[in-house]
Amino acid sequence: MQTKSSLKRRDFIGNISKASLLGVLGVGNTTPLVKNINELSAHPAEGHIFLSQPYLQAPSENGMSIMWITNKLCYSWVEYGEGDQLNQKAHEIKDGLVNAYNRVNAVRLSNLKPNTTYTYRVVSKEILEFQPYKLVYGESITSDTRTFKTVEPKAKEVSWLIMNDIHDRPQSIPHLMKLNGNDPYDYVFFNGDMFDYQTDEQQIINHMLAPCLESFASSKPFLFVRGNHETRGKYSRELADYFTSPSGKYYYSYQWGPVYNIVLDTGEDKPDDALCMQVL
Ligand SMILES: [Fe+2]
Repeated sequence: MQTKSSLKRRDFIGNISKASLLGVLGVGNTTPLVKNINELSAHPAEGHIFLSQPYLQAPSENGMSIMWITNKLCYSWVEYGEGDQLNQKAHEIKDGLVNAYNRVNAVRLSNLKPNTTYTYRVVSKEILEFQPYKLVYGESITSDTRTFKTVEPKAKEVSWLIMNDIHDRPQSIPHLMKLNGNDPYDYVFFNGDMFDYQTDEQQIINHMLAPCLESFASSKPFLFVRGNHETRGKYSRELADYFTSPSGKYYYSYQWGPVYNIVLDTGEDKPDDALCMQVL
């Protein structure tokens, strides 16, 4: 799990064997909620930048997943703490190995206190060389510092905003969020058909993540279910890599306050031999 002293361990990870040792020691955390996302190619954008600032996923009483995207292949982690502290560190471990040399990040913060405010930021350190016995790091970039609140288990009520059928109109997200005014809400639910079809990562960033971050997503979580339009296009098979669902599937259930929600993945609404389903 996360350790209070682990911030000092940033430089501890000097080579692969040490990175593996961290897995053995249990620094960071493992959870079935988060996949090992490992896209082995750097993005051609200039410099070392965040393609997406961190956004909140899979909220629970004791946990929150933080996702973000870099353009370079990195070793990445979250610094966080209760209140305004940043005294803990978390990274992901899968099969005994610390996640590294990836761009799309999902780190699960667990063992959090319910109904509690946490502060967090993310750090991504570029890996310039990842050879079997030689690891060379580049520069680190650090995100903005934000806060979130874990779920109140005994909440008497819960409020959430639902959007669907945005269909590649990113300006609709902040526009609709503004219609809520200052009414309090706990989270946002995207109910399908955010896109017409999926083409590439840039579309997911520009048409969903960026407008969500502009309006709320670094301080309030969102949940996502695919609609029939999220089964189409050459990048539809990668779409799930950009979200963390409570079950790891497009279908799941969750309770928040007095409301129990069942989320159905209704899939494609056309027959299997329709043009949009031509990969058979
Ligand atoms: Fe639609």
